[in-house]
Amino acid sequence: MAEEIRIEASATKTEKYSALLPQIQALIEPELDLVANLANVAAALHHGMGFFWTGFYLVQGDTLVLGPFQGPVACTRIGFDRGVCGKSWAQQKTVVVENVNEFPGHIACSSSSLSEIVVPLFDASNKIVGVLDVDSDKLATFDEVDQAYLEQVAQQLKSKF
Ligand code: SME
Repeated sequence: MAEEIRIEASATKTEKYSALLPQIQALIEPELDLVANLANVAAALHHGMGFFWTGFYLVQGDTLVLGPFQGPVACTRIGFDRGVCGKSWAQQKTVVVENVNEFPGHIACSSSSLSEIVVPLFDASNKIVGVLDVDSDKLATFDEVDQAYLEQVAQQLKSKF
């Protein structure tokens, strides 16, 4: 297993993601434990990309419950269709928010968080099992490049649930 994530600090966003994804694959490939894999993926994305908050919420009945993450402490439970995470869960689609203060129902875990992307996670039978949530302390950080690569990360995790 790779013991550290190597990403050029001067690389573009696309270059960083394309260097990171094979390293994430190598990290999770030999490991079967879900928490271990989610914890390492959160750390690899967070430090590799320099995000403000990076983590997982997992479906438990009618609620999303906080899973492994990196960054400031966060809300532990989010209802179905509540906030950006609950919306992504309900719609089973990626939600990109340029300004969280303009998103009706946004759940402010941290007042420093200004923009956000939430990607749904599916298991091998295509059942939704959680979301990957990434927050930025700047406006309009996330675009279709983040969406494409973070959806690939969700794809990499599919067989691990
Ligand atoms: N802002 C999210 C809640 C989770 S935190 O950002 C870590 C939302 O509205 O769903």
